[in-house]
Amino acid sequence: MTTTFDSIQTRESQYVLHTYRRQPVAFVKGKGPRLYDVDGREYLDFVSGIGVASLGHAHPGLAAVIADQASTLLHTSNLYYHPLQGELAARLTALTGLERAFFCNSGTEAMEACLKFARRFWFTQGKPRTKFVALAHGFHGRSMGALSITWADHYRAPFAPLVPGAVVLDADDPEALRTAVDEDTAAIVVEPIRGAGGVRPIPPALSAAIVEASRRTGALIIADEVQSGSWRTGTFLRSGAVGITPDLVALAKALGAGVPVGAVVMADRVAATIAPGDHGTTYGGNLLACRAALTFLEVVDAGVGDSMRRVSAYMFDRLRALAAASGGAVVDVRGAGMIAGLELAADALPVTNAALERGLIVNRTSGNVVRLLPPYIATQGDVDEAVDILTEALGALR
Ligand SMILES: Cc1ncc(COP(=O)(O)O)c(C=O)c1O
Repeated sequence: MTTTFDSIQTRESQYVLHTYRRQPVAFVKGKGPRLYDVDGREYLDFVSGIGVASLGHAHPGLAAVIADQASTLLHTSNLYYHPLQGELAARLTALTGLERAFFCNSGTEAMEACLKFARRFWFTQGKPRTKFVALAHGFHGRSMGALSITWADHYRAPFAPLVPGAVVLDADDPEALRTAVDEDTAAIVVEPIRGAGGVRPIPPALSAAIVEASRRTGALIIADEVQSGSWRTGTFLRSGAVGITPDLVALAKALGAGVPVGAVVMADRVAATIAPGDHGTTYGGNLLACRAALTFLEVVDAGVGDSMRRVSAYMFDRLRALAAASGGAVVDVRGAGMIAGLELAADALPVTNAALERGLIVNRTSGNVVRLLPPYIATQGDVDEAVDILTEALGALR
C-alpha cells in the first residue's frame, strides 16, 4: 500500500491517543529551513518543531555526529561515568555563569527538577518552604508539578488537585507579586519571554518586583528558559535582558537541535543541598544527547550565532513594517532573536492556516498571536519569503 496523507491520518486516528489537534499535513523529510510533505510539497518551516530544530533539518554536521555516536555508544545510564556529561556541563556553566548542571530529557522534566531542587534547598537547611509563585501567561509543561505553576486554567482544571503550594498570578501586577512572595516561598518561577503565552516579555516593573521580593524573603529564582534560552533570543539566556539573575535555569528545546535534551543549571548553594539519590533519570545526559548538545553549541560558535543576530534584526524590521502597513490587523510585534509574536486584532488561526496553504509554517499561540520560531540558520531570503507569505495570508482574510 502506498503511503498517502489519508493512510497516515486514518491509521493515527485509529491507534494514537487523541491528545493533539494536528494540522492536516504529514512531513516525511527536511533540509535546512524546509520541510517536505508526503506528497512532495515544500514548506518553509518557521516553527522548527516548536523551537527545537535550531540548526534546521538534516544539518549535515549534526547528522554526521549522531551517526558517529550511534555507531560508537549511545547509552549507558547514570550508573556509570562517560566523558561527555562533564564536558557539556562545563560548557553550560560557562555560558550561564552558574556552577552545576543536571541532565534530563525535556523541558517539563527540567522544570520538575527545578521545583524539587528548590524545595530540597530549603529542606536541607532545616527550614522547609513549600510555596512557588509563578507568573500570569507562563507555560511550564504537563507533569503535575509543571502544570501547577502553569497559568492557563484549561491546562490545569481537569487534573486538580495539583501540587499544593503553587500560586499563579492573574496578571502582570508587581504589587500582587510582592504580596504573594513571603517567607514560605521556596522559589519564584519566571519565563523571561512567555512563548506559549503569546511571546510576552516580562515588563521591567515586574522583573524589578521579582528581584526585590527574592532579596526580601530569600526565595530562589527559577528561570524557565526552555523556549527563550539556548541562544533563541540572541544571547544564551534571556534572563539577563530582563534584569534577572536566576539561581536555577531550565533548558531544553533548541539545546539538542532535535535530539531530546533537558538540563537544569544551578548555583553552587543550591547544588550543595542535593544528595545522591534525591533525583535522577535513566536516559538523562546520555552520550547521544550530550554529543548533540555539544555539537549545537559548536555550530552556533562557528558563525551561526552571528548570522542569526543579523537575520533577526532584519526580520523584526520587516515584521514591524508589515504591522504598520496592516491597517490595524497586526496590533503588536514582540520578541527577540529568533522568536517573534505578531499580536492580531482577531483570532490568529485563519492566518496560520492561510500561511500553511501558501507553504509557510507558523503557529497560533494565546488565541490571537502568530508565533514565529525560525531555525537559527534562516537567511534574509527566507525571512523575505516568510513575511511576503504572511502579508498575503493577512490580506486574504480582509
Ligand atoms: C517555557 C516552556 N517551559 C516548559 C515547556 C515544556 O517542555 P517540553 O514540551 O519539552 O516538556 C515548554 C514547551 O513548550 C515551554 O515552552
